[in-house]
Amino acid sequence: MRVIVTGSAGRLGRSVAAGLAASGHQVVGADRVAVGLPGVDERTVDLIDALAAQRLFAEVRPEAVVHLAGIAVPFSAPERRILMTNTALVHTVLAAAAEVGAERVLAASSPTVLGYSSPDWRADRVPLDERTPPAPANAYALSKLVIEETVRQFARTERTAYGFFRPCYVLSPEEWAGAPTQQGHTLEQRLADPALAAVSLFNYLDARDAATFVAAWLAAPATVVDGEGFFAGAADALAVLPVADLWREYAPALGPGADALGHGRPVFSIEKAERLLDWVPERTWRTELDPAAVERLLAASEQAARPTDRSTVRLTESSLR
Ligand SMILES: NC(=O)c1ccc[n+]([C@@H]2O[C@H](COP(=O)([O-])OP(=O)(O)OC[C@H]3O[C@@H](n4cnc5c(N)ncnc54)[C@H](O)[C@@H]3O)[C@@H](O)[C@H]2O)c1
Repeated sequence: MRVIVTGSAGRLGRSVAAGLAASGHQVVGADRVAVGLPGVDERTVDLIDALAAQRLFAEVRPEAVVHLAGIAVPFSAPERRILMTNTALVHTVLAAAAEVGAERVLAASSPTVLGYSSPDWRADRVPLDERTPPAPANAYALSKLVIEETVRQFARTERTAYGFFRPCYVLSPEEWAGAPTQQGHTLEQRLADPALAAVSLFNYLDARDAATFVAAWLAAPATVVDGEGFFAGAADALAVLPVADLWREYAPALGPGADALGHGRPVFSIEKAERLLDWVPERTWRTELDPAAVERLLAASEQAARPTDRSTVRLTESSLR
């Protein structure tokens, strides 16, 4: 398919654009910057400029559009700017896609639409899934809910297929190798201190697995994806210990339903994507992180689990050195 990927220079976009190109799609990346992606025709464009977006779409005439561009981190800009930017971008891009009759349009939402950053939030069921009600607690999450509703509006009014996905905390290939994650710490630090990953309820997704998700979404029958949303996450939790052992201290809002999350089971269900798109994520922290780091984490976790050591040993960065 001829696909425009917006935000192709970003953490998620780089792997999605390159992954789609590697799997045989003809990919045009649309971003404010170009980063030299293999097999991708990168165009620099400010998509907030509706005329510039329309011009690009009229020239490329994409069969599919994957919309990832936006402000991707909560509180990384003033609240009003996040809301205005993300909502304007999605409408501009989806309208430009509709104008040229793109057959498939997929937009990135976020698990944060559920509102679990709010102190008042409580899980209605565990694992969380697409039936869990959204309750945004900041402008970023609100912008994502508007993105989902914009997708649904286009799904209702256009003949072609519009959908959204909620990628879990995205990890790019260089982050497995030690580059700082979105919050500045390394992945090993995030695994060593459960408080860091608890903020996102231990969810994560390898950016290359996001690419296979997008490819599966593009290949699925239109009737299966039109107007639908999907969580996309790793098959396990980003935690050394099972969430069942961690939730009381680190994520009490999950409630006793989280006792079922033993053996590395994730908080966010990906059953819908597995069932309807036949998509299975391939990468986990145990397969992607440096084996020496995995060993250090497991050793520290075993030490912390010994009853006599419990009061003195914590899974902190310092206990790993
Ligand atoms: N990274 C995550 O953990 C995560 C989780 C859930 C959802 N998402 C969503 O996925 C999408 C991509 O996230 P990411 O982590 O790759 O973000 P990122 O910040 O790394 O990349 C976003 C890209 O969008 C581009 N962009 C922003 N405004 C633009 C404009 N006006 N015109 C053209 N390009 C523009 C930026 O230049 C950047 O390359 C975002 O919509 C984000 O909200 C990300």
